[in-house]
Amino acid sequence: MFVSAIIVAAGSGRRLGMRTPKAFVRLAGRPMFEHSLRTFSNAGTIEQLVLVVPPRHRFGKAGLLKRYPKLTAFVPGGAERADSVRAGLAAVSPKAKLVLVHDAARPLVRREDIAAVVRAAARHRAAVLAEPASDTIKRADRGFIQATLNRDYLWRAQTPQGFDLKLLKRAYRAPSRKPTDDSALAEALGVRVALVTASGPNIKITTRTDLEYAAWLLGKRR
Ligand code: CTP
Ligand code: MG
Repeated sequence: MFVSAIIVAAGSGRRLGMRTPKAFVRLAGRPMFEHSLRTFSNAGTIEQLVLVVPPRHRFGKAGLLKRYPKLTAFVPGGAERADSVRAGLAAVSPKAKLVLVHDAARPLVRREDIAAVVRAAARHRAAVLAEPASDTIKRADRGFIQATLNRDYLWRAQTPQGFDLKLLKRAYRAPSRKPTDDSALAEALGVRVALVTASGPNIKITTRTDLEYAAWLLGKRR
């Protein structure tokens, strides 16, 4: 089965607050996005990779194309993440049956988890890598708790998220839809989205502390 992956790396990283766009900040010896690019390239199930990049950021494209033969396109991203995913979708091969969407801001993604998301998406049409909530989560309004949510039902959604290509294209057809993750669009279409439990830490880099923690985790892995 032909599986493509879109890695979205077009964000500016406002909360990280560095001059370089977040996905291009160096982490453990390479730009952050290249950790994901490498892991996806080494995943046997993935046949095509699309990298969505900040429209005005300059970087060495030829070297990347040489190092990662599955990489077929650099696509300029949009104002919001959803715009970037939509732009990436347009570059996915029509041969693809499934497409995985992954945030370059999650450089710790593991090959086994990519394979597990592909398997679950092939079976259920939509699947999301996730971890069970470990905190007790409160619903609140203006600084006061309204309810304590039952943790058994709460999961932290991560990426990659995998979908039947036709389904995700249909989900993104309405240009006004701007969810914070892709599965929300599939859910809105009434699709039952499968959860795949992450096998290890797959943190999203948002702040400087996250960057230091990720560098430590990657160093420990080697
Ligand atoms: N992303 C993107 N295009 C955008 C916004 C985000 O491709 N217009 C990507 C980011 O590069 C990142 C992922 O979506 O890999 C998750 O977004 P987030 O962690 O919010 O990254 P940023 O938007 O870059 O960070 P911030 O919100 O702090 O500006
Ligand atoms: Mg953002």
